[in-house]
Amino acid sequence: MKRLFMLGLMAGLSLQSIAAEPRSPLLDDKPAFIASLIEQMTLEEKIGQLRLISIGGDMPRERILDELKAGHIGGTFNTVTRHDNRPMQQAALRSRMKIPIFFAYDVVHGHRTIFPIGLGLASSWDLDTIASSGRVQAIEASADGLDMTFAPMVDISRDPRWGRTSEGFGEDPYLVSEIARTMVQAYQGQSPAAPDSVTASVKHFALYGAVEGGRDYNVVDMSPMRMHQDYLPPYQAAIDAGAGGVMVALNSINGVPASANTWLLQDLLRRDWGFDGVALSDHGAISELMRHGVAKDGREAAKLAIKAGIDMSMADSLYREELPGLVASGEVGIGEIDTAVREVLGAKYDMGLFHDPFRRIGLAKDDPVDVNAESRLHREAARAVARESIVLLENKGQTLPLQKRGTIALVGPLADSPVDMMGSWSAAGVAKQSVTLRQGLLDALGDKAVLRHARGANITDDPHMVEYLNFLNWDKPEVVQDSRSPETMVAEAVAMAKQADVIVATVGESRGMSHEASSRTSLQIPKSQQALLKALKKTGKPLVLVLMNGRPLDLNWAKANADAVVETWFSGTEGGHAIADVLFGDQNPAGKLPISFPRSVGQIPTYYNHLRVGRPYVEGKPGNYTSQYFEEPNGPLYPFGYGLSYTDFELSEVRLSSPSMPRGGGLEASVTLKNTGSRDGATVVQLYVRGEVASVIRPVKELKGFRKVFLKAGETREVRFKLEEQDLKFVNAQLERVAEPGVFEVQIGLDSEQVKRGQFTLL
Ligand code: BGC
Repeated sequence: MKRLFMLGLMAGLSLQSIAAEPRSPLLDDKPAFIASLIEQMTLEEKIGQLRLISIGGDMPRERILDELKAGHIGGTFNTVTRHDNRPMQQAALRSRMKIPIFFAYDVVHGHRTIFPIGLGLASSWDLDTIASSGRVQAIEASADGLDMTFAPMVDISRDPRWGRTSEGFGEDPYLVSEIARTMVQAYQGQSPAAPDSVTASVKHFALYGAVEGGRDYNVVDMSPMRMHQDYLPPYQAAIDAGAGGVMVALNSINGVPASANTWLLQDLLRRDWGFDGVALSDHGAISELMRHGVAKDGREAAKLAIKAGIDMSMADSLYREELPGLVASGEVGIGEIDTAVREVLGAKYDMGLFHDPFRRIGLAKDDPVDVNAESRLHREAARAVARESIVLLENKGQTLPLQKRGTIALVGPLADSPVDMMGSWSAAGVAKQSVTLRQGLLDALGDKAVLRHARGANITDDPHMVEYLNFLNWDKPEVVQDSRSPETMVAEAVAMAKQADVIVATVGESRGMSHEASSRTSLQIPKSQQALLKALKKTGKPLVLVLMNGRPLDLNWAKANADAVVETWFSGTEGGHAIADVLFGDQNPAGKLPISFPRSVGQIPTYYNHLRVGRPYVEGKPGNYTSQYFEEPNGPLYPFGYGLSYTDFELSEVRLSSPSMPRGGGLEASVTLKNTGSRDGATVVQLYVRGEVASVIRPVKELKGFRKVFLKAGETREVRFKLEEQDLKFVNAQLERVAEPGVFEVQIGLDSEQVKRGQFTLL
């Protein structure tokens, strides 16, 4: 097998003639096939496989093609069309070893069709809905010639100051793990080799969401017990679901950068979790080892990273520059290089690229003419998912749903901003394809009512903030200031509002405010918009707030003053239609918060499943010498799991099938849910468990199950949950997962605070 006829590919051949080439007899034996490739590769070719380069960076296209032909590149990212990817694959197949490259991209919450951001998807608490978004993402991305997505992003975030809170699925290990598993399965479909699948590369491993103070790229210092209990489970869930890749985090963990962390990448990931996919560095992370101060130069950085277990370096030249010398000096063994190469080739094998390097690129004659994909968007799916992601936070005096009549005053800088609808990390999404709220309302109203619109305020009037936001990596500045004075804009909006029956104020953050490198010290809606809201309030007209934002905000003013508050996150391509569906009651909102909304920034962290303390704060009985801030109550403004509906639901008491659970056994907890209102609607029944006494301090409660239930007006349904010993396990001081005998409380509610309780004993 010395000649590499196994690929059956000659440069530039069409797919048909490729198929006619002889196949390697080893092709269906993955380990033997890869071993035989490695055996024939030069060191230079091996190191080439470890490079993941960004297209569109400094390297001109011609040079990239040359490098590909020389076998110096293992994979690329940042191209999104078959037309762009085809010549690169053809060049790679002209290399001596004819090893295909893979194409990756940040398909995080949509590829062409943009779905709600991570927090929005999680707000649906509906795994089928979430899976449908993942599947569409995979279908669209693979149809564009992509083989891998840098997703799902499953970093638990409990500090909303962190800008990347928007990308993740919230604060809870159980919910985020369920979503992690769901997303991996949705991306990878039947198999990562399927032409309509993309390989999931779960990120950011690990604990990136716990950066100190919520400041991006900051350190993480965390007890092993907390890591294992709360922060690591979602990554493990993704890996157990078969994620083919892992992207390693930019942060350090207890003093060692993740990219140089042997414990993390070898002991935990490979040995304990059995991961056998490819480990990628994050962007430039290997060079950053020097700035972390653990490597004195590039040579040492490359050595640390390869030895720790980073298989591929992303957007970093150090592997290329330093590994040859490190191998020559014997500091890095060829076995260590081979291990990394094996993982990279293994991932390509699993993607099906050795069987057909063009399986996702297809033939030029079939390339879509519609490069913007307008005709290929999945608008219906996007609208359906976005409808499920919307959370109704307030609805005083049944202000909502609105009638489709009279005059509606639509104000706010986000009411008609296509780019903000998409949210950050919106991949190949095209802003002008997204439906803004203004468009959504117009489409819903037709000629039934009058819609007036005024911007009312800029996102912010702070020039430094505007400059910062426009400095981010977008193609062009996107926070565009209205040159009129704030007073003129507010006056225009107020005059219009006075003539209307209701005000819909669309306020919050620009998408760049909740992004990588966009950490904030404040959770306030920017002052320009606050001033607008206060002026609108004075008109005395019903005030409906439609929030667009990528993190929990401080909503004290909104809660006290608005008649209705609707959290819509950044809701994607069809967001405007979906929000209109909710505002007019064509969709009864059923979203629930996947993250607590604090009362103030000073309260952070505010996650619901906090550990118990010796002097707990007691709701309604604040007092000295208890664990509290004395200026405001403990607990969030809006709790985890919270969200209203246009109908009312009632829960019965909790019924348990038995007062005790035998070892290795289980029991059933059930409630009766009744829709007591006059509209059909869905809600999420949530089950929490609280262990009363254990060998280590345990959280006040932990989510262990949830079920989204749709009921017609007046309908009743029994909702049952199975609880098993497995669900009662936790990480003890020896870092073992154990269930200890004792009393447990079962709490079932429609949010994490208002619950019905039952009790059982684990024998
Ligand atoms: C981010 C990753 C992303 C990568 C490639 C980095 O800056 O941290 O989440 O996947 O860039 O775009």
